[in-house]
Amino acid sequence: MAENGIKHQEVGHKSLLQSDALYQYILETSVYPREPESMKELREVTAKHPWNLMTTSADEGQFLNMLLKLINAKNTMEIGVYTGYSLLATALAIPDDGKILAMDINRENYEIGLPIIEKAGVAHKIEFREGPALPVLDQLVEDKKNHGTYDFIFVDADKDNYINYHKRIIDLVKVGGLIGYDNTLWNGSVVAPPDAPMRKYVRYYRDFVLELNKALAVDPRIEICMLPVGDGITLCRRIS
Ligand SMILES: C[S@@+](CC[C@H](N)C(=O)[O-])C[C@H]1O[C@@H](n2cnc3c(N)ncnc32)[C@H](O)[C@@H]1O
Repeated sequence: MAENGIKHQEVGHKSLLQSDALYQYILETSVYPREPESMKELREVTAKHPWNLMTTSADEGQFLNMLLKLINAKNTMEIGVYTGYSLLATALAIPDDGKILAMDINRENYEIGLPIIEKAGVAHKIEFREGPALPVLDQLVEDKKNHGTYDFIFVDADKDNYINYHKRIIDLVKVGGLIGYDNTLWNGSVVAPPDAPMRKYVRYYRDFVLELNKALAVDPRIEICMLPVGDGITLCRRIS
């Protein structure tokens, strides 16, 4: 209990909105009625999985789907797949000959969503690589032919590596292309006092997220926009 008798809201609250009712209103009015059947099925299957906290939220999935269509993304990359909710949002948004290089250290979880992605008729757009993303990125960067070839890169994996990812993917994304870093408001913990109650993993990754946010804010190669969607997503548009 805090001194004034008001219990601190635990850091780790699902939505960053201050009102659960408002978030529910967004989901029920705008997201769920428009959610493709396959995404709904994948969301419901994922909800039964013990690590379901990791999934991209339905409102963020809708946002990504719209964003990819707006920028006419065709060649894309995703770091951090889990069961594939954001992957499916991407696969449904890009054209039939579009591509997603999808990386995750865990194939098992990807395979939970894969039958649904196949049924949706978009699995042919996905090249899944099992394993840590960093060595794959190093390999891609080594070959100059890959530079400036990606329209969109979504990063939603190990927060302690985001800076390392940024150093590499900034060369791989096109000038005018977009990088999306997920969880940049990290459960709201970015503004929590150091002594605030926090889950262990939230506390551990918090400093890395703070460091990333500072680095992105001063990086002259990008324009940025930080949105309070999901757990916070920072869009970076490469300008040089
Ligand atoms: C938050 S989840 C991704 C959620 C996903 N985008 C979705 O829509 O459900 C983070 C994922 O990153 C993966 N991951 C963790 N470290 C990784 C690494 N070094 N390289 C690639 N993937 C990694 C985890 O296995 C996990 O599936």
